[in-house]
Amino acid sequence: MLQLVPPSATYQDSFLAAVREAQATGSGLADTLGWDLAGITANFEQLLAHLRRYEPGNVLPEGFVHSEYRWLVDGQEYLGRVSIRYSLNRRLRESGGHIGYEIRPSARRRGYGTLILRLALERARELDLGPVLVTCDVDNFGSRGVIEANGGVLEGEFSVPEFHDKPIRRYWIGR
Ligand SMILES: CC(C)(COP(=O)(O)OP(=O)(O)OC[C@H]1O[C@@H](n2cnc3c(N)ncnc32)[C@H](O)[C@@H]1OP(=O)(O)O)[C@@H](O)C(=O)NCCC(=O)NCCS
Repeated sequence: MLQLVPPSATYQDSFLAAVREAQATGSGLADTLGWDLAGITANFEQLLAHLRRYEPGNVLPEGFVHSEYRWLVDGQEYLGRVSIRYSLNRRLRESGGHIGYEIRPSARRRGYGTLILRLALERARELDLGPVLVTCDVDNFGSRGVIEANGGVLEGEFSVPEFHDKPIRRYWIGR
């Protein structure tokens, strides 16, 4: 069954295989590419705690907002991940948005990007986040497709050199 779940050791092997894939292809969100695979394999619980560090109940570093990670899984298989931020600070309003996602390289172009954003938007409604901002690089055609398939309404294209090195598109959903 395809569903969004909190990060969990149930999916450890599949998740680690996905990180390996991302690192081998150089394609994924920046943080994963820098991860020390041997280290996280040896201490997966520590990684899970790290992924939960911005959830409500934790003390946030100055300027941070509450957020949660969810993983898209099919049975035992990890397919991708999404970060849902509960509010916007200046950086997120300018460039990052409420929701960021990635699909593991071997599972792309099969509709999972569109699905992960759809499920994240359902979660955003549950959390009562109000209108949701989703952004992508102007040249990220996969992500543009994902956002537009989910009803994203383009606010415009922007250069935000303070926060991001490439021009971005900002879309709103539910505004
Ligand atoms: C962007 C990303 C999430 C798309 O995931 P995906 O599972 O391939 O997306 P989908 O299969 O749902 O495709 C959505 C639409 O975009 C199109 N698309 C997907 N990848 C594409 C690409 N590389 N180039 C052009 N179009 C693309 C699909 O054809 C589809 O359009 P269609 O329904 O008209 O056919 C995935 O490529 C990824 O994880 N990239 C790296 C991380 C990233 O960029 N995250 C987004 C940050 S804003």
